[in-house]
Amino acid sequence: MFFPLISLVSCLVAHVAAVPTPSSNVGHDHSHNVRRALPGTWYHDEDHPAHSLFKRAPGDGSTYATVGTPAWSAGFPQSSPDPNALPAEWVNALNAAVSAGKIPNIPQSSNTPGTNPVYPTGFNPNGPEICSATAKCRIPGDIWDAPDGLFASSFDDGPTPSTPTLVNFLGSVNQTTTHFMIGINFLYYPNQFLAAFNAGHDIAVHTWTHPYMTTLSNLQIVGQLGWTMQMIHNSTGGRVPKYWRPPYGDSDARVTAIAKEVFGLQTIIWNHDTEDWNNGTPQTIGVSMTGFLASPKSPGLIILEHELTDNTVNGFIGAYPQIQSTGWKFSSLVKAIGDGRTYRNAQNSLSNDVQPDGILISPPSNVTTSSSSSSSSSSSSSSSSGSSSSSTTSSSSSSTTSSASSASNHDSGSDTKSSSALSATFVPISTHITLLILCLTSALIVGS
Ligand SMILES: *[C@@H]1O[C@H](CO)[C@@H](O)[C@H](O)[C@H]1NC(C)=O
Ligand SMILES: *[C@@H]1O[C@H](CO)[C@@H](O)[C@H](O)[C@H]1NC(C)=O
Ligand SMILES: *[C@@H]1O[C@H](CO)[C@@H](O)[C@H](O)[C@H]1NC(C)=O
Ligand SMILES: [Zn+2]
Repeated sequence: MFFPLISLVSCLVAHVAAVPTPSSNVGHDHSHNVRRALPGTWYHDEDHPAHSLFKRAPGDGSTYATVGTPAWSAGFPQSSPDPNALPAEWVNALNAAVSAGKIPNIPQSSNTPGTNPVYPTGFNPNGPEICSATAKCRIPGDIWDAPDGLFASSFDDGPTPSTPTLVNFLGSVNQTTTHFMIGINFLYYPNQFLAAFNAGHDIAVHTWTHPYMTTLSNLQIVGQLGWTMQMIHNSTGGRVPKYWRPPYGDSDARVTAIAKEVFGLQTIIWNHDTEDWNNGTPQTIGVSMTGFLASPKSPGLIILEHELTDNTVNGFIGAYPQIQSTGWKFSSLVKAIGDGRTYRNAQNSLSNDVQPDGILISPPSNVTTSSSSSSSSSSSSSSSSGSSSSSTTSSSSSSTTSSASSASNHDSGSDTKSSSALSATFVPISTHITLLILCLTSALIVGS
């Protein structure tokens, strides 16, 4: 049972993620040998390129194509984004960040599909230079834990046909969750996305086609993040998401820096994994949940869960009463961390405070400082912030290795759909279907 899934996931990932090319797109500084501290501030100055990446054009009337229409889908990639056909603003922002020394010049990893990425000889995935989340190395500013006492809920890989099941259940208990959504899945399941968004759920980024991000070039990373942000932006009335989760939990110092410096995205991993992605049933998921819920209230729980199938959703639903009975406070993940805002330019999915002219750069809390640089620094208090006060001295202490052993290296690789659902879509996906069929076939062969 295990191997066919892994093979399938691997194959699917392989068909959407281009084979990594040798790193040649970054400057030839000496950062291979010198630890480059990640930038210490979260909110960028007004002149930072991220400020304008998703700005509406002046006078464009702030209108967006209706979700689900051909006009809405037309501008988006139908498969793995072409790194040579990215909006110039994104490429310029990447180049500016590289020039400013903000993107660590470390090599791409590589992997045999379905296995953990590895780095070239001499590069320690647990060292501060690479700090691979796959190796459980925690980069300051990345989020692995929730505040004490909180069950900070999130689901990966939507939208899917099972999304409404999850949304309806949470509605019945007056709750929402955070959905780390796959960009290309919007094209297949626009109405399922809307079910979550219109119910006030929080939408965050899970890349366009679900690759192992550390295996990608800088430009490929920009495409994976940028198109998903653009999709969320254009499908939510212009909201700019603040958070992303790497597929398989696979990020490192370079990937996290690109997300942060080019797109203002903060990286969220997890501290427990139900392994629902591995053919989880409500029973197996329930056993995992019971164990996690019995753990101490510090740190709070960020549990990897998926809205892949009714099975994975029902595993959560079955365990939900235990969350209360064991004394945890349920919250949508992104409402429980940082300043509690889901989007950079709006409080949440239902709020009317969308700022049409761009991204909120200043922190929303009432902070008054005089210098222009410090006025753009985050004052949010959370376990997510670890480097802002030590940006000049962080080289020896800015990375720590997680002692938690519960985070898995895998989450599901669902970037594609069931064939029955495919027939309902208007999106031209013949190439995708062909590859999917090949994948299914080869996975069954390999797995049997
Ligand atoms: C996003 O919406 C804006 C405003 O309508 C539009 O100009 C732009 O082309 C859209 N992007 C895509 C990729 O469709
Ligand atoms: C539902 O939750 C919201 C937000 O927490 C709260 O303001 C509201 O009172 C709740 N409604 C019910 C019926 O519990
Ligand atoms: C911000 O803080 C200042 C000083 O404490 C106070 O006078 C002002 O009313 C506050 N503004 C808001 C919007 O809370
Ligand atoms: Zn995933």
